[in-house]
Amino acid sequence: MSQPLILAIPKGRILDEALPLLARVGIEPEADFHDGKSRALRFATNQPDVSIIRVRAFDVATFVAHGAAQIGIVGSDVVEEFDYSELYAPVDLNIGHCRLSVAEPDGLATGNDAASNAMLSHVRVATKYPHLTRKHYEAQGIQAECVKLNGAMELAPSLGLSLRIVDLVSSGATLRANGLVETSVIMQISARLIVNRAAFKMRSAELAPLVEAFRRAVGVRDAA
Ligand code: PRP
Repeated sequence: MSQPLILAIPKGRILDEALPLLARVGIEPEADFHDGKSRALRFATNQPDVSIIRVRAFDVATFVAHGAAQIGIVGSDVVEEFDYSELYAPVDLNIGHCRLSVAEPDGLATGNDAASNAMLSHVRVATKYPHLTRKHYEAQGIQAECVKLNGAMELAPSLGLSLRIVDLVSSGATLRANGLVETSVIMQISARLIVNRAAFKMRSAELAPLVEAFRRAVGVRDAA
């Protein structure tokens, strides 16, 4: 018998929406998964041929791209930031909706429209998304110097690390609480099912029905 399929899912806010979706697919993690005190990272499920790992969002893409996990759930922000050729993203799961935006201090905001940016040749930006940030500014003929942070980007402007940040925005509450305003939206985001391309070929008998089950589960929710 082959090894169980490894399904990588992200910690954080996608997880709450992913669990009901997994239930509709017929995958229920073992009880320990829901134990907040558990330090376990890998979990059995009700399906003997599927295990779950719970990792940081960016690491979901890394595990799946390298084939250490065969399938995963992650935001389209992560898929686009890494642009891994080994990843196949066949299903928009219609959960985890948010946007990737540029923000600046309220009052100091120069605006990020083409007219304001026409004056600029260079910007410094704190972000977890250097690739998408550079691409966004390059399209306007501006060179972006990215300061890579892994969280709490919103602190950067008030502490003089950078005037601008590029980060995820959902309700906008974090920006408001830190005196920032959104000046442009780079992309709308939702969670995607991702699959390792090589695994999809080699284990298609297991993976193709699973991908179809996710597709159906998304459709069921849409129709509800
Ligand atoms: C994300 C993001 C923002 C915040 C935006 O962080 O980085 O800080 O959510 O959400 P809002 O617009 O609803 O306030 P998250 O809490 O997921 O944690 P992270 O900083 O570890 O990414």
